[in-house]
Amino acid sequence: MQATTLGHNRTGAAMSPAALQAMNQAADELSPAPFIDTSDLRLQKIAFIGEAEAVGSVPAPNTAKGYVKTGLAALKGGEPTVLLDKLGERIAFERSGTRLYDALIAKYEAILESDSDPLPPAPPAVQAAGAPAETPLDTLKGIRAEELAHFKMLTLAVANLGGDPTSQTPSADVTAVASMGIMQVLNDPRTTLAQCLNAMLTAELTDNAGWELLINLVNDAGEDQLVSQFEAALAEEQRHLQVIKGWLTELLSSPVEPEAI
Ligand SMILES: [Fe+2]
Ligand SMILES: [Fe+2]
Repeated sequence: MQATTLGHNRTGAAMSPAALQAMNQAADELSPAPFIDTSDLRLQKIAFIGEAEAVGSVPAPNTAKGYVKTGLAALKGGEPTVLLDKLGERIAFERSGTRLYDALIAKYEAILESDSDPLPPAPPAVQAAGAPAETPLDTLKGIRAEELAHFKMLTLAVANLGGDPTSQTPSADVTAVASMGIMQVLNDPRTTLAQCLNAMLTAELTDNAGWELLINLVNDAGEDQLVSQFEAALAEEQRHLQVIKGWLTELLSSPVEPEAI
């Protein structure tokens, strides 16, 4: 392939046309044939899946009282551990969410230290009801406090159902693995505020869907008190999503602070 424009090397310096041509030639010579047969890989994956054990198991409720009292047996398939598994997942997610906001707050504070502030205040409609006008930092700290409050509320709920809130259920394990990339983005010193908000958008979308699913499960189990507690948590999560999405949109549509994007 003939180079027509100057390229840039990994340090950002312009490459000469000759160097660019040599690089393209090497890429052409060393690239594998366009058709790569991956059928063996696919068959091997299918074999591994067939042989694999499950990702852990859920401990059964530790008191007969909890089991009977909660109506867990009425859950789909008569499986009392389904709800405990998903409650364990939300505990893990809310705990991770608290840490994600710790990292986002640190990222934002680093920008504030350079005497710039790329974020507008969250719209009054999504600020906490009855509270005075918040700075973006107040809003972030408020959301972090809500994630932590959700974590604590869930641990109590599991204990009251006779479960062990400290156990890592299979879904908690899987969701922790799925969240690892988001945590890496937030804790990478090189990432911008907009990149971090984009990762947080993934987390908050998942958070919202997770609460919706959990509300259905506690509703099926006849746990009316938990339904109302979880609906209140979902309302807060919907606000988190609005705030994060609004800030991301703002940063990308009015790039007054290019270093934040
Ligand atoms: Fe959350
Ligand atoms: Fe959230």
